[in-house]
Amino acid sequence: MSNPEKPVVLTCVQPTGRLHIGNYLGAIKTWPAMLDDYQCFFGIVDMHAITVPYDPEQLRDGAFECLALYIACGLDPQKCNLFLQSHVTGHTELAWILGCLTPVGRLQRMTQFKDKSKNQGASVNTGLLYYPVLMAADILLYNADRVPVGADQKQHVELCRDIAQKFNNTYPETFKVPELYIPKTGSRVMSLQDPAKKMSKSDEAQSGVLYLLDTPKVVRKKIMSAVTDTGKDVVYKEDKPGISNLLNILSAVAGRPIPELEAEFSGKGYGDFKGVVADAVIKLLEPIQKRYAELIDDREYLEGVLQAGAAVAQKRASKMLKTVYQRTGFVERK
Ligand code: TYM
Repeated sequence: MSNPEKPVVLTCVQPTGRLHIGNYLGAIKTWPAMLDDYQCFFGIVDMHAITVPYDPEQLRDGAFECLALYIACGLDPQKCNLFLQSHVTGHTELAWILGCLTPVGRLQRMTQFKDKSKNQGASVNTGLLYYPVLMAADILLYNADRVPVGADQKQHVELCRDIAQKFNNTYPETFKVPELYIPKTGSRVMSLQDPAKKMSKSDEAQSGVLYLLDTPKVVRKKIMSAVTDTGKDVVYKEDKPGISNLLNILSAVAGRPIPELEAEFSGKGYGDFKGVVADAVIKLLEPIQKRYAELIDDREYLEGVLQAGAAVAQKRASKMLKTVYQRTGFVERK
């Protein structure tokens, strides 16, 4: 599972709410192709999930749901390490040290912090502000070479790169500066109901979010009622955000370039086009849902996967943390 010769991929998903097609197309879909060439660490970041109001029972269930979906999407636990952030000691410890190198102004300017803390004033919780530092620690604790994420995480990974550089300039060179990897298609899937906003687990308009576990009937209904404009041409254009979003989804799902899809639907109406998008998404989700259903009630198996993943992750994390403590001047415990 862990081959020290291979470069390291690290990336994570928050187990808040069910995963949606944005999480899949922008992130998870690209990961199985890395299993053979990289040592892969795919985390489920439950500690990040408590930065917003949450239900403890749902947090636990969400972790298993996320894990079962990881496996159902093709992340073979024999070939990668699937682990819970809270199972590995070191994420929060490293975050503390990295936080001591990070200006608070930089955190206050992060887009996600500004969005999520809107209207909360000074009562916004400290965890939400500190979130990107914990994310940097998730990545640097494994000395990752590559971090595959959707476009919305670009700013966070860039901050992580800056923190790594600052650490390396302050103390002896320790961290690799990780490479950001964003897929060419599907890296920014927008809400079906408000295509100006990204599709998000926390979206209040649930009809705008296509969940990986939505039934075929629900998928079709959501796509057929997706917001579009009053025109009738299926073209990718800035002033047609709804149609452009659906073209993007179809392109990523079907693996076909957008110009080819525009040509195919030239002269056809939105209804025909949406029907084809719905068919493609339903076909994509069918095997994922089938595999998920086989896995989700097998807690013993899922717990075994988490234990194995955490054991490998902990080994790597402990080694890194020891080096960091040593370089930053802490007395080693004998
Ligand atoms: P999260 O849980 O919001 O999303 C998981 C992954 O899905 C991508 N994504 C999208 N891609 C395209 N279109 C969308 N609408 C869309 N929504 C989400 C995200 O970019 C992400 O790749 N902060 C991270 C979790 C995290 C992490 C890390 C990631 C914590 N530590 C270390 C990488 C490395 C987050 O909230 O992802």
